[in-house]
Amino acid sequence: MRKPLRVVVLISGTGRNLQALIDTCADDDVDAQIVGVISNRPGAAGLQRATDAGIPATTIDHTEFESRAAFDIALAAAIEQFEADVILLAGFMRILTPDFIAQFAGRMLNIHPSLLPKYRGLNTYARAIEAGDTEAGASVHFVTAELDGGPVVLQGRCPVQADDTPEILAERVMREVELRIYPQVLRWLAQGRLQPAARGFLFDGVEHLAPLQVEAV
Ligand code: GRF
Repeated sequence: MRKPLRVVVLISGTGRNLQALIDTCADDDVDAQIVGVISNRPGAAGLQRATDAGIPATTIDHTEFESRAAFDIALAAAIEQFEADVILLAGFMRILTPDFIAQFAGRMLNIHPSLLPKYRGLNTYARAIEAGDTEAGASVHFVTAELDGGPVVLQGRCPVQADDTPEILAERVMREVELRIYPQVLRWLAQGRLQPAARGFLFDGVEHLAPLQVEAV
């Protein structure tokens, strides 16, 4: 029997995505285990979610490091100690160095609250509203050295309403999209259905250059 997929989740905040991933691993048909949660912010609410689920939770406070590179070296060492197969960034609000990203190339994914390639970076909801977009969404992608620029695996969409504030839209994107797509991708990873490729990704052994869409899977 294959060993369960060992997953480390990196967080900075509330951890709603983390909770969805924890709940997914609790499903009998998902052969994955979150073996560690690491936050760069002391007291992040997500740490408590991990502890409540019996998952080792660690803080590596980036403010205690002299440089981005020094923080990333400590972070990488912690991830290696957990013997992670896969690293999932779930609201992890740090830009990572190219060396760190190279160390975990092809086995690190992120969730971003926009329909990438639209709105990389911050303030995605306000930017979607300002642009007059009628739909918003979220994307799960492999992490590459380009910020929010790696191959997108899965996207989901939801409407933008005329009177939306960024906060209202953020809640809709989280509830209707994010909490669905990251668990789905974790299931695929656990089933061995998803691999990185030179361009795009492999899903069931077939190369995809464009993201899968949640309504189609
Ligand atoms: C999510 O919207 C995620 O897409 C973004 O940060 C937020 C994290 O929320 N990168 P949570 O910590 O999962 O509740």
